[in-house]
Parts: sequence; C-alpha cells; structure tokens
Amino acid sequence: MSTLKIENLSKQYGDVTALEDVSFEIEDEFAVLLGESGAGKSTLLRCINGLTEPTSGYIALDGEEVRGSQTDVGMIFQQHNLVDGVSAYLNALTGSLDRVSMLKSMLQWQSREDKLRALEALETVGLLDESHQRVSQMSGGQQQRVGIARALVQDPRLLLADEPVASLDPSSAETVMGYLRKAAGEHDVTALVSLHQVNIAAYFGDRFIGLRDGEKLFDVRREELTPELIDDLYGSVETVGLADQEETVEEILHGDGDDPDDTAPPETVPQEIEA
Ligand SMILES: Nc1ncnc2c1ncn2[C@@H]1O[C@H](COP(=O)(O)OP(=O)(O)O)[C@@H](O)[C@H]1O
Ligand SMILES: [Mg+2]
Repeated sequence: MSTLKIENLSKQYGDVTALEDVSFEIEDEFAVLLGESGAGKSTLLRCINGLTEPTSGYIALDGEEVRGSQTDVGMIFQQHNLVDGVSAYLNALTGSLDRVSMLKSMLQWQSREDKLRALEALETVGLLDESHQRVSQMSGGQQQRVGIARALVQDPRLLLADEPVASLDPSSAETVMGYLRKAAGEHDVTALVSLHQVNIAAYFGDRFIGLRDGEKLFDVRREELTPELIDDLYGSVETVGLADQEETVEEILHGDGDDPDDTAPPETVPQEIEA
C-alpha cells in the first residue's frame, strides 16, 4: 500500500517542454498513463524512478520525497532488459542488479529467502514451471513476465511500467497485462503503467491520467473515462488506428448493458492464460 504524489512537475530538454506543471496523486491503485507518442509519458516515469531529473516540482512516495533511484520503486521497461543467456529464475533472483553485478552475484551464495522470493514471483506471473528455461528461448510475452517477476523480487512499494506491452501482439499484450495487474494486486503495490493501446488500458486500469504535449489533460476514474476524453487526447480515434474497433472501445468503456459487472476490472487472470 502506498501513495505517490506528483506536484507541479516540469521537465525541460533545452527548448523542448516534455512535462509542464503536472500534478496528481495515486493511492493503492492500478493507474494508467495515456497519451500519444511524445506526450511525456516516459519522461514522467523516468522522473519518478530517478533516471531523469525534473526541472522543477516535487515527487513523494508515502510522504517522503523521492530523489534519484530507489530500490522501493520497481520498473518494467518495454524492452525487458533481461540477461538472455541465463534462466528466468536467475533473472528474477538478481532483481535490480545490473549485468556486471548480476554475473558476480551468480557466483555467490544467495539467501534462502531471496531464492524463495524469486520462485514466488515467478509463480505470480505463471512461470514457475519454466523457471529454469533460458530467457532467450522464451516468447516475448513470457520474457516480459520475467521482467515483472524481477521487479517484484525487489519488493517495491511502487511499480512503474513504461509501455510494457508495446512490442507484443494483442493477445500476448492482454496476457501480460493480466499478470501485471494480478502481481500489483497480490503484492499490494501501487502501479503506474503507460500504455498507448486505449482498449487494453480501459480494460485493466482503475484510474486514467491523460497527458498531451506534456500537460495533464485529464485524471479520471474508470467510470469517468469517456470516448470524448479519449478523442481529446488523441485528436481523433482514427489517428490511433482504432477506427474499426470504435464499437469495441465503447463497449469496453461502458459495457454492453447486459451485465452490470462487465466494466469491472478482472479480479483474476482468465483460465486460458494459465495454459
Ligand atoms: N533525452 C531527451 N532529450 C531531448 N528531448 C527529449 C528527451 N527525451 C524526451 N524528449 C522529448 O520530450 C518529449 C516527451 O517525450 P517522451 O517522454 O519520450 O514521450 P512519450 O513517452 O509519451 O512518447 C518529446 O518531445 C521528446 O522528443
Ligand atoms: Mg515513451
């Protein structure tokens, strides 16, 4: 359980304003950051995890200012940054370490607690049986799930993910998002995930923060997310290639009216994902 507070955050790269006066607060939620390419999503996430220094503004986790990188902030990237040649288990076990430290640490004794935590994290993402498989032999979706497990091993209070499913096909993207949501839920961790796929975002998010040209355009809960807001964010639905799916987006956003629960986020990963 944790609270992320962003206050008046701005980031300037020379003449380019990547973020302008962005403020919001999320608490124990699965929040989605929406916006076109160049909107400032990555910059915001990088400011939060200390990879980029904001020009001005304030970031706090549970009331304490976040400065630089912290181990209690877990990050999942679009490109997973795993070590290909070794097993899923070793990748998960070595959590936040960089490649060199990882190779060193592989030669060292790991505590029993760390080993259990790595296996537990792999179980959370449905990869316990594949834990000894090399990452290079896994599918893109499985690799991304190892990335989630690795972030969980850090035992973060906040989980950040920058377009974690951008390079996956729609079905794998849905599976990975299902596990990410499940992981955040099981570990009681607040999550902020950037996505450009509106339909996936609408299905998995509790809370939606829209960025346009570095500014916060909206900050709404699931029931307040409307196709009009999405239109404002992307100019028009056609520009993001959703023209054919417009009805589906409507349905996802508001349900088809038959089942009062069908706009609710999935509580568990659907059965077929386990297969
Ligand atoms: N390291 C950088 N140097 C200069 N400009 C950058 C840098 N990173 C991002 N930008 C600019 O900041 C803006 C926001 O980029 P970014 O945060 O990557 O957006 P998004 O992740 O939503 O696509 C863009 O105009 C981008 O070109
Ligand atoms: Mg980006």
